[in-house]
Amino acid sequence: MVSPLQPVKPFVRWGLTHGLLRVVIRRGAKNGDLQGQMILAASDPDKAGELEGIYDQIRAVGGVYRGQFSHIAVSHAAVKEVLSGADFRTGIPTLQKGVMVRLAAAVKSEVFSPVEPPSLLVTEPPDHTRYRKLVTRVFTARAVDQLRERTQEVATELLDALVERHRSGQLDSVDLVTEYCGLLPVTVISEILGVPVEERETILAYGEGAAASLDFGLPWSTYREVDRALVEFDGWLTTHLAWLRKNPGDNLLSHLIAAQEDGVGLTELELKATAGLVLAAGFETTVNLLSNGIALLASHPEQLALLQERPELWGNAVDEVLRIDPPVLLTGRIAARDTELGGEVVRETMPVTASLAAANHDPEIFTDPLVFDVTRENAREHLSFSGGRHYCLGAQLARMEGEVGLRTLFDRFPDLTLAPGASRRPTRILRGYKHLPVRLGELARAGADARG
Ligand code: HEM
Repeated sequence: MVSPLQPVKPFVRWGLTHGLLRVVIRRGAKNGDLQGQMILAASDPDKAGELEGIYDQIRAVGGVYRGQFSHIAVSHAAVKEVLSGADFRTGIPTLQKGVMVRLAAAVKSEVFSPVEPPSLLVTEPPDHTRYRKLVTRVFTARAVDQLRERTQEVATELLDALVERHRSGQLDSVDLVTEYCGLLPVTVISEILGVPVEERETILAYGEGAAASLDFGLPWSTYREVDRALVEFDGWLTTHLAWLRKNPGDNLLSHLIAAQEDGVGLTELELKATAGLVLAAGFETTVNLLSNGIALLASHPEQLALLQERPELWGNAVDEVLRIDPPVLLTGRIAARDTELGGEVVRETMPVTASLAAANHDPEIFTDPLVFDVTRENAREHLSFSGGRHYCLGAQLARMEGEVGLRTLFDRFPDLTLAPGASRRPTRILRGYKHLPVRLGELARAGADARG
């Protein structure tokens, strides 16, 4: 029987979560709550600079701050402890009892969400171990090395298309987010998962619509768009999995389905959650790594010149991009027991926010943390891929795509410059560019000659 709440479910869900939070965030920020101020600063691309000032204030009081929703860890040591210490686990803070809990259960969404169980991101052993084991082998260093050549081909094909248009004089400036940064990772992850290449624009559109699903305190209009994108993505995923059942191939999802049929694998819901997360995480973050990297390198020509002289530094440059401008700003955990963090008592079940961006700019660990330096020796100590059990499963793949993607672009267009009109994505947790127009400049001689 269809619930009488069905038509208003999304609105009630929004009200119970984001709507209420919005009021509290604004009021708190006005009354001096640094967490509220952090959320508002992260929501407005023009205020992103204010975040550094807030991190500094929290560093000055020991690196951990008690905000109105959670404790916030900003020092490198405290963030590491939250991500990998035994006293913290993932999960969603839950209301304990009462009418709100019953209402929340009645309006719960049945479609895939990256931040609800059984998503890998919010499950713990033994389930988490089981899911991760099934997908890990595709993302090992060796497996990723084998994908390098194919990634290089995809990057070259995408740039060939740009060169064609560049030559025929059709392009004054080009938006690299739509023409390159999004298409490269979505093509690679689609091939890993057995998604036909024709589907990649559809997948990108779902990703764009659902990217804010990690955020909180969303306005109703954004929430409605996210909800719609998740419903459509869920429908697409169901059809795609049914298609793969009939047309299995040598790809990760076909293997997961086979494992399911052996009776040792995943339930239908677990299969969808794992497939959905790997697909979405596979491009929604790497697109930001690429766009942030292009913006940084194009605005620091002396660093680019260093890379052109010493190409062996490219791997380190990618880690420096991840450190200084991380694609995922923060994550969260819950205290598994009463514990202590940076001198603050944290009670069991209380949420803690781990600011990956602040940890990456901790002056205790990184000298001149706001300086972009591709030769920085400890750039790799950044926490942009999180840590502990939930350390990013795709880190090797993302690093490889970042290196191949950035290097191929700048080798081909060494004079590339930023054009007016760049804008940041409106998401709060994922940080990258929505538009990044550039002028490609002269083609590199070798590249131009080789391609006639
Ligand atoms: C620059 C690119 C990327 C960044 C910055 C990034 C960042 C992260 C972070 C911060 C987490 C952990 C969140 C937490 O601890 O709560 C995570 C988890 C994850 N990432 Fe990535 N990621 C990137 C690329 C990828 C790619 C290419 C894939 C594709 C396979 C991927 C798949 C995953 C998965 C499946 C998880 C969940 C792991 C778990 O919970 O056990 N990521 N990622």
